[in-house]
Amino acid sequence: MIMIMTLQFDTLFKNANLATMDPAIDAPYGAIKKGALGVTDGRISWIGKIDDLPEYKAKDVRDCGGHWMTPGLVDCHTHLVFGGNRAREFEQRMQGVSYEQIAKAGGGIVSTVKATRETDASVLLVSASLRLIDMTAQGVTTVEIKSGYGLDLETEIKMLEVAKTLEEEENIRVKTTFLGAHALPPEYKNDPDSYVDLVCEVMIPRITELNLADAVDGFCENIGFSTLQIRRVFEAAKKHNLPVKLHAEQLSKQGGAKLAAEFAALSADHLEYIDEEGVQAMAKTGTIAVLLPGAFYFLKETQKPPIDLFRKYGVPMALATDCNPGSSPITSPLLILNMACTLFGFTPEEALAGMTREGAKALGLGAEIGTLKVGKSADLAIWDFEHPSELSYWLGNYSCSIRMLKGKMYE
Ligand code: NIG
Ligand code: FE
Repeated sequence: MIMIMTLQFDTLFKNANLATMDPAIDAPYGAIKKGALGVTDGRISWIGKIDDLPEYKAKDVRDCGGHWMTPGLVDCHTHLVFGGNRAREFEQRMQGVSYEQIAKAGGGIVSTVKATRETDASVLLVSASLRLIDMTAQGVTTVEIKSGYGLDLETEIKMLEVAKTLEEEENIRVKTTFLGAHALPPEYKNDPDSYVDLVCEVMIPRITELNLADAVDGFCENIGFSTLQIRRVFEAAKKHNLPVKLHAEQLSKQGGAKLAAEFAALSADHLEYIDEEGVQAMAKTGTIAVLLPGAFYFLKETQKPPIDLFRKYGVPMALATDCNPGSSPITSPLLILNMACTLFGFTPEEALAGMTREGAKALGLGAEIGTLKVGKSADLAIWDFEHPSELSYWLGNYSCSIRMLKGKMYE
C-alpha cells in the first residue's frame, strides 16, 4: 500500500521566483522559477517548483504574483549603537583633514566614545531602533552589532545590553560582538598595554560571564592596536571560547588578516590593504572577507580590496553596511550592494550572496540562515521586482513587501 503524506504548512508561499542563493542549485542566484516555499514551525519545510508541490494543508497561503523571494538580508558588521554623530568631522575631512589626523588629534572614535558614555541607555536604544527600522524595511533579518564606543566596562556593557534589547523589541535576530580593542580611551592615553590588560583580564571575562557577546573584535591599525596587542586580545577570547573577527588592513597593511586567520577568525573586515599572502592565509582557515564599501566611499579611499585575489583563492566575500558615525553613516543595505558593484567590481549576484549566504557565514550562522533551504530558519524577504539584479540596481531606495523572521511574517 502506498501512503500519501499530506504536508502541513503554517505558511505556504506560492507563485514566487526563489533566489535561493543555494550553491547546490545550478542556476544564477540558485534560482527556482515559478516556485513555492513552505514554512512549518519557523523553518523552511518545503521548497521547489510549484508544479511539484505534493498534497498539502496550509494555515496561510500567499500568492506572490511572480515576485522574487530572497533569503533575509544579513548585515554582518555594524556599529549600530552610538551616541551623537560626527558631521562636524565630516566637514573637516571635506576641508582636507584626514581620518587619521582627526583621530590623532583626539577626535574620531574617541569623540563618539565621549558621546556614548554620556548618553542614557534609553536614548541609545531609540536612536539605534530608528536606524534598524531603515534596515528591516530593506529586508534585513539578522544584524551584527558591535560595542566599542564605551572603552570602559560599564559603557561596553551598556552598549551590548542595548543591542540585546533591540533583539527583543525590534523583530530582528541580533549577534553581538565585543569590540573593546577599538581605540585607546583618553584615560589610558600613555599606557596602551595597560588598556589591553583591562580588555583581556577584566572586560572579556565579565562580558562572557554576563553572556553579552557572541564574538570578540579589534581594530588592528596604526590608530588602533598592533598585531601583538590584538594577539593578546584573541588569546583572551580563545580562553573564554569566543570566536574572533578583526578590522584589518583598512588604512594600511599591518598583517592583521594573517593574524585573524591564525586564530581561525570568523572574518577579517575592510581589507583594502591586504596582500596575496594574507588572502592565502584566510583561504586556508575559511576566514570570510567582509568588505565594507560604505567606509571605502565615505573616507574617499582609493585602494580597493583585491577582489580578484579573493575570487582566485576562493575566499567568500561578505558585504555589510558598517553603519557607524565616523566612517560609514549608512543604514541602507541595498545601497551597499550597489556600491559593491560600482566601486569594487562585484557582480549583482556576488553582492546579494555577500549580504545573505556569506554574511551568515561571517557570523558563524551558515547552517541556520543565509540561503533558502529546507531545514533552515524561515528568514526571508519578498520583493516586487522582476529580476534579483534589481536589488543592486535601485540606489538603495527599495523596500521589501514582506519580511519573515523565524516563520513570523512582517508586512
Ligand atoms: O569599521 N575602523 C574602525 N571602526 C569603524 C569606524 C569607527 C568610527 O570611525 O567611529 C569602521 O570603519
Ligand atoms: Fe567597523
